[in-house]
Amino acid sequence: MKYLRFILHLFITFITLITKSYAQFSTSSLSSQCSSAVQTFLNSSEFNACFPYNKLTSQINSATSFQSIATSEKQLISVEDSVCSLPKCSDSLISNFNSTFQSKCSDDIAKNNTETMGIYDFIYVYSPFRDSFCLKNSTGGYCVIETLENIENAQIQGSYTNLSSKVLCTTCNKAIANTLLNYMKSHPPPSDLSTASTFLTTELNQTCGPSFLDGNVPLSATSAGVTIFDMSFAT
Ligand SMILES: *[C@@H]1O[C@H](CO)[C@@H](O)[C@H](O)[C@H]1NC(C)=O
Ligand SMILES: *[C@@H]1O[C@H](CO)[C@@H](O)[C@H](O)[C@H]1NC(C)=O
Ligand SMILES: *[C@@H]1O[C@H](CO)[C@@H](O)[C@H](O)[C@H]1NC(C)=O
Ligand SMILES: *[C@@H]1O[C@H](CO)[C@@H](O)[C@H](O)[C@H]1NC(C)=O
Ligand SMILES: *[C@@H]1O[C@H](CO)[C@@H](O)[C@H](O)[C@H]1NC(C)=O
Ligand SMILES: *[C@@H]1O[C@H](CO)[C@@H](O)[C@H](O)[C@H]1NC(C)=O
Repeated sequence: MKYLRFILHLFITFITLITKSYAQFSTSSLSSQCSSAVQTFLNSSEFNACFPYNKLTSQINSATSFQSIATSEKQLISVEDSVCSLPKCSDSLISNFNSTFQSKCSDDIAKNNTETMGIYDFIYVYSPFRDSFCLKNSTGGYCVIETLENIENAQIQGSYTNLSSKVLCTTCNKAIANTLLNYMKSHPPPSDLSTASTFLTTELNQTCGPSFLDGNVPLSATSAGVTIFDMSFAT
């Protein structure tokens, strides 16, 4: 179950950053220098060409509540479609944002507040997270949704026999876990994510066996074309 918490933590970090409206940023605990540098990046046409920040902000602001997005499968799929229909942001774009963030927000970073940690985690995790977030299963559904459905079904049926292995040891989760772990192997994570990743490794190794974490990613992330094609049939 720690693995699920890990995924949800990442997901929530991701969504939380998205939901910060510009107004919230300016009244937040960030210094004005940091806040304006972050806002400028999030609102830039370069970033919005590969991550639909402005679109998601209005989508989320117009939803009745954040809770309704997190619990509505239809709304989650719509968020997934918005993110996955765009090409992935280049490493250099994210790395430029990191440099700006490190220089304009150095005082904020030193204070360890949750807002700066969230931005830091976002920068760190963007690449493998974008890959995992857009993974699709053999029938064309998003893996993230499949896992959430599996958790729900397991809970509704009230049967906790082998719940962990049924929910955890799926092809989707193997693809997600190895995508994240392969990235973490080559990029040392910040300490909060490092702890979570140790739990993840131990839990999955015990529950699903050592071959689960062999580094293989058995599914591939969607390309922009495939998602647009899928969407035209879904609507
Ligand atoms: C975001 O960018 C658009 C133009 O690309 C601009 O009109 C708008 O004022 C910007 N918003 C903020 C909050 O910076
Ligand atoms: C910030 O967090 C780091 C690591 O968790 C810690 O070593 C440091 O003392 C913290 N700084 C402040 C100002 O809380
Ligand atoms: C961001 O910059 C810091 C400081 O230069 C560096 O330690 C970190 O690895 C960078 N993160 C990413 C994801 O590039
Ligand atoms: C694929 O994922 C969707 C949710 O995105 C799920 O409803 C469907 O059952 C999954 N297919 C398989 C074969 O598990
Ligand atoms: C639980 O899983 C183990 C190993 O995966 C299997 O041998 C056992 O038959 C399963 N038990 C039930 C009740 O499904
Ligand atoms: C999984 O567990 C086995 C035996 O307990 C251990 O040898 C192996 O190194 C572990 N693999 C990972 C990826 O942690």
